[in-house]
Amino acid sequence: MAEATKLKNTTATSAKAMPYKRVLLKMSGEVLMGTKEFGIDPAVVARVAQDVKEVLAMGVEVCIVVGAGNIFRGVSGASQGMDRTTADYMGMLGICINALALQNALEQQDVPTRVQSAIQMNAICEPYIRRKAMRHMEKGRVVIFAAGTGNPYFTTDTTGALRASEMDCDAIFKGTKVDGVYTADPFKDPAATRFEKITYMDVLTKDLKVMDATAISLARENNVPIVIFNIRETGNFAKVLKGEGKCTVVSKD
Ligand code: GTP
Repeated sequence: MAEATKLKNTTATSAKAMPYKRVLLKMSGEVLMGTKEFGIDPAVVARVAQDVKEVLAMGVEVCIVVGAGNIFRGVSGASQGMDRTTADYMGMLGICINALALQNALEQQDVPTRVQSAIQMNAICEPYIRRKAMRHMEKGRVVIFAAGTGNPYFTTDTTGALRASEMDCDAIFKGTKVDGVYTADPFKDPAATRFEKITYMDVLTKDLKVMDATAISLARENNVPIVIFNIRETGNFAKVLKGEGKCTVVSKD
C-alpha cells in the first residue's frame, strides 16, 4: 500500500476545531426510535433537535438527510418478496414522516426549518429546489431533505452525498451508533481500534461499510469529507465539530 493511503489508526482525538461552516447531517431512521423497536421516540427527536440547535449556535449552517429504517426498510421489503421499486418508494414516504417529526421538534425549539421533498407533495412541504435550499440555509434555516433522491435503488447515504455536494457542504456528518470506523466490529471484537482518519479509497477497497460504495464515490468525486460519529451521545455533534469528540474522518488523504 502506498504511504499516502496507509491507514492511520489511533484512539487519540484532535482538540482542533473542524473548519466547517456548512455541514450535512446524515442519520439513520433508527436513531429516532431510541430504545423502541419501531417508530419515533419524541424525546429522542427533541434531543437530536437540541444537538442541531447547539451546532447552529456555533455559526455552522446545517442541512439534514434522514433515513427511514425505523418505519420501513425498502431493501428488507424487497428481500421478503416485494417489488423493489415499490418497497423503495414506501421507504421514501417513511423518510417524509421522519422529516416532519424533525421539523416539528426543531421548530418547538425555535429553530427555523424548511422541509424540501424530492417527490412533490406540495400540501405537506416544499419541492426540492437547490437554489431555494441554499437561500434557506444562508438565512439560518435548517433544510431537511425528504424522500431521498426521489428514485428507487438509491440509499439515503447516497442522498446525503448528493445533497452535500449540491449544497456545497464542507462535510457530511454521518451520525450512527458507533463513534467511528473500526478495524473490526467493536461490539464483537474488544481489540478493535478506531481510525482517526481514513481515505475514501481505503473505505472502498477494504469494503469498510462506512456508507455504500455509490455514496463514497460521490463524496470522493466532489471531495466532501465524511465524519463518522456517535449521534446517540447527547451534545456529540457540536463536540466533534469543536474537535473534542471521537470520530473518524474519511477524506482524500
Ligand atoms: P423566503 O423567500 O426566503 O422568505 O423563504 P420562505 O420559505 O419563508 O418563503 P415562501 O413564501 O417560499 O414560504 C413560506 C412558507 O411556505 C414556508 O414555511 C415554506 O416552507 C412554505 N412553502 C413554500 N412553498 C411550499 C410548498 O410548495 N408546499 C408547502 N407545503 N409549503 C410551502
